[in-house]
Amino acid sequence: MQPTDLSRTLLDWYDHHARDLPWRVGPDSLRHGVRPDPYRVWLSEIMLQQTTVAAVRAYFLDFTRRWPAVGRLAAAQDAEVMAAWAGLGYYARARNLLKCARVVAEQHGGVFPDTEAGLLALPGIGPYTAAAIAAIAFDRPATVMDGNVERVMARLFAVETPLPAAKPELKARAGALTPGQRPGCHAQAVMDLGATICTPKSPACGICPLRTSCQARVRGIAADLPRKSPKKAKPIRYGIAYLAQRADGAWLLETRTEKGLLGGMLGWPGSDWTEEEPAPVPPIAADWRDPGGEVRHTFTHFHLRLSLRVARLPLDAVPDRGVFRAKADFRPSDLPTVMRKAYDLAWKTGAPD
Ligand code: ADE
Repeated sequence: MQPTDLSRTLLDWYDHHARDLPWRVGPDSLRHGVRPDPYRVWLSEIMLQQTTVAAVRAYFLDFTRRWPAVGRLAAAQDAEVMAAWAGLGYYARARNLLKCARVVAEQHGGVFPDTEAGLLALPGIGPYTAAAIAAIAFDRPATVMDGNVERVMARLFAVETPLPAAKPELKARAGALTPGQRPGCHAQAVMDLGATICTPKSPACGICPLRTSCQARVRGIAADLPRKSPKKAKPIRYGIAYLAQRADGAWLLETRTEKGLLGGMLGWPGSDWTEEEPAPVPPIAADWRDPGGEVRHTFTHFHLRLSLRVARLPLDAVPDRGVFRAKADFRPSDLPTVMRKAYDLAWKTGAPD
């Protein structure tokens, strides 16, 4: 099939099988003149970076209920937005989200730029997101590359070069396939195909709209593509977190510095996370107890093993680090996942109450 036939086949499939997603204006609504809201497209694409649709749904609904327009988000308190993002991971996204909302509100009159180049100039918007917003919100023929698209291209054209070296070729293939008509639907069609049919394991080739054109299927190697260069093993880092509760139930917490991992998020005071066993750095002198066990959490570049210390503190305690947060103002759901795991483990092992 020619590229135009492939994209027509894909669009036809999308018209019948587009996923119903809370941020999406589906093909029927588009036909009836409904236009996507760039704010919702932008928000969803930031949330969807390295994160599954299933994980994003509830966060997207919560954010758009609380902050229905970019100006509202721009006016929100930093801590409130960081708490709402807690659990979604990759917290630099949330800090940049706020920066971007404020730039759009203050420097662009609350209107998102409608070109890839204009979008790229905004904080937190890289090539993927700029292309995705340009295509989905503004129907521009941008080439949107993510893991799904790479996989579909690698299979459709039987590209055997391993990733990441194959990226330029896959992008060229995707670019050649992008149609002038309905490029936004085309981009979402490729993503949906990758997410629902052309899946990483056991692709459902039998029901794929491109099955007769797919070179990897013809050669019987669809499930083996894309090939990947071996990844470097992640190192293990160790840390200690200190969970202290004052006699009135208040917890000792700190807002992590803007720079670095979990920057700007709420957390338990603790040691640095290092490949050597860390030295103890309690935030206050107290009778610290080891509740046993450890929290395990995997970040992009390392595995973390976090041991815990718990203590009860008197009402007049004056810590070197952190601030007390009243029990009534503390919601475990405001914590990023690793800190939440620490809280859950301390509880399970019968630490403070
Ligand atoms: N993954 C990332 N962005 C997406 C979108 N707009 N539709 C479906 N899956 C996606």
